[in-house]
Amino acid sequence: MSFTTILSTLALSALVRAAPTPSTDDVYPNYEYGNMFYLGPTTNSQYITKATYSLSVPAPPTDYLTSSPDERWLSLWIGLQDNPNTSDVLDMNFVQPLLNWGPNNAIWGCDADVEHWCAAASTYTPAEQIGQEYVALPSNATLDFVVEVNADTGMIDQSISLAGKIISQESDSKGMQPAVFYSGTECYLDGCGTVDAHSWFNITLELNEADADLDKTMTLTGATSSGMVTTDGGKTWTIESIVIEKQNMTE
Ligand SMILES: *[C@@H]1O[C@H](CO)[C@@H](O)[C@H](O)[C@H]1NC(C)=O
Ligand SMILES: *[C@@H]1O[C@H](CO)[C@@H](O)[C@H](O)[C@H]1NC(C)=O
Ligand SMILES: *[C@@H]1O[C@H](CO)[C@@H](O)[C@H](O)[C@H]1NC(C)=O
Repeated sequence: MSFTTILSTLALSALVRAAPTPSTDDVYPNYEYGNMFYLGPTTNSQYITKATYSLSVPAPPTDYLTSSPDERWLSLWIGLQDNPNTSDVLDMNFVQPLLNWGPNNAIWGCDADVEHWCAAASTYTPAEQIGQEYVALPSNATLDFVVEVNADTGMIDQSISLAGKIISQESDSKGMQPAVFYSGTECYLDGCGTVDAHSWFNITLELNEADADLDKTMTLTGATSSGMVTTDGGKTWTIESIVIEKQNMTE
């Protein structure tokens, strides 16, 4: 799958979630994707049964463009998806608990001022974005995320926790066997300003079966990784941190 195809999916996902909906032709040029990592697909049909990771939330940008404040937004996320080897990613769910910020957070239903982020459990589906109500975050928050296959229901359970308490969660995407795990720094309408470096850390991936070569599938774009470690031949992988570098989302 080409990177362009990935981006199209994400663009659509964001469109369904957040934008009042002009035609897609009008909208695609308005999305910009910044620094990121991409891990997967797994090398031999293994899938991720449980992913846990944390984020030290950066300050929202201060040098964003002030035009169209009711339309512009910036989102940070890691998402999981089935192996995109056979179908159009537009037709696949993408489980992506996310952070969102805009010059006008209220318009997205979040009770946060311009100096704070909002967070919500969320899943792109081909029909629509299924997302929970946004929760306003305190400054300098650290969030803990869990995305896992529920062995009883076959659903994907996702949650976001702050200081040990779940603040948002949902379950959907029955039957998904996640084979990719990747991040996004996504700006709608360009002009999101300077996004500070931030760290996805304390990452653990548990697989249904060992994938000793999973680490070879990692791609970093404007990001640095501490490296992937396994002590059980590839059934469990840990990454101390992946730092997404500071970037200008206006240029
Ligand atoms: C695509 O990925 C799935 C899940 O990992 C696997 O079962 C299948 O064999 C793959 N198909 C091809 C054509 O690579
Ligand atoms: C958040 O972190 C920044 C940078 O370290 C610091 O200047 C600021 O005072 C912190 N804010 C709060 C509310 O702790
Ligand atoms: C690391 O992740 C675990 C959950 O897997 C969580 O309980 C713990 O608080 C996290 N540590 C930090 C420093 O965020």
